[in-house]
Amino acid sequence: MINLGKVAIVYGGESAEREISLKSGKAIFTALSEQNVDVDLIDTKETSPLLLKQMGYQRVFIALHGRGGEDGVIQGVLESLGLPYTGSGVLGSALAMDKIRTKQVWQSCQLPTAKYVSVKKGQKIDFSQIMSQLGDVVFVKPAREGSSIGMSRVTDVKMLEEAVSNAFEFDESVLIEQWINGPEYTVSILNGQALPVIKMKTQRSFYDYEAKYLSNSTEYACPCGLSDVDEIYIQKLALDAFEAVGADTWGRIDIMRDADGQFYLLEANTVPGMTEKSLVPMAAKANGLSFSELTMAILQAAK
Ligand SMILES: Nc1ncnc2c1ncn2[C@@H]1O[C@H](COP(=O)(O)OP(=O)(O)OP(=O)(O)O)[C@@H](O)[C@H]1O
Ligand SMILES: [Mg+2]
Repeated sequence: MINLGKVAIVYGGESAEREISLKSGKAIFTALSEQNVDVDLIDTKETSPLLLKQMGYQRVFIALHGRGGEDGVIQGVLESLGLPYTGSGVLGSALAMDKIRTKQVWQSCQLPTAKYVSVKKGQKIDFSQIMSQLGDVVFVKPAREGSSIGMSRVTDVKMLEEAVSNAFEFDESVLIEQWINGPEYTVSILNGQALPVIKMKTQRSFYDYEAKYLSNSTEYACPCGLSDVDEIYIQKLALDAFEAVGADTWGRIDIMRDADGQFYLLEANTVPGMTEKSLVPMAAKANGLSFSELTMAILQAAK
């Protein structure tokens, strides 16, 4: 046995991303078991994380995506229990989960992010004014959701109204963002280092849930096709953006490039997908790190 003590992988949970988390957790479990780590899977929908210490666990791998797992809540529980856990701490997790506050921090640090308007449930919203302010095409997202859940591309005022109402099903705060017309990239981060950039390409109108998890036609390019200068630029941008929201250890920053060549930060993920097909494992592989080695590196960095 490698001396990491008794390890719990917390997964599942009750967020809208439960299904993805179940897959991430199982893949991590297989990888760690193969490396003789003493590890168990704990679905936090069934077992409260408050019990982890008395159950004898000494270290926790967080494989929960979305609210409750990626937003500082479980991180706070584990801090209180005095159990080391993987990934970002309370502040970085909470801030990165909130796309509106993340953008506010990035703006204040002069980091590039698309123009946006934020709206709250119950507030009177002037939809046509927002359309004229942001342009002919806008993108609507719940402030704290992942896996493209509750998100839509919108081209007129009526669609905007419907999209915002749909996004309010997932969060009381909603972000309406200028549409970025161009390719999409993701930068994976591991222990202070940016991994090779991946370019994602979908035939769908954007990289939605279907394109992420169901479609066979989504294309991933790594090497991403950017010039060395541009790739190094967005790797640095991602590291700065990650640091700005107080995130650390491992994660992923999503970026788009507009038709004018300018890069814009979309969002920070502090517990990105960890199935064998996910983006961080893909980037790690391009750097010579297997899924098992990646999983172990994340676990060993638990604090
Ligand atoms: N302003 C925008 N313009 C164009 N497309 C966008 C914009 N914002 C988001 N998208 C599209 O929607 C997808 C999901 O957006 P985003 O990455 O912000 O949310 P997410 O669901 O939290 O992602 P993840 O699954 O990576 O956690 C992006 O991958 C991109 O394809
Ligand atoms: Mg994303």
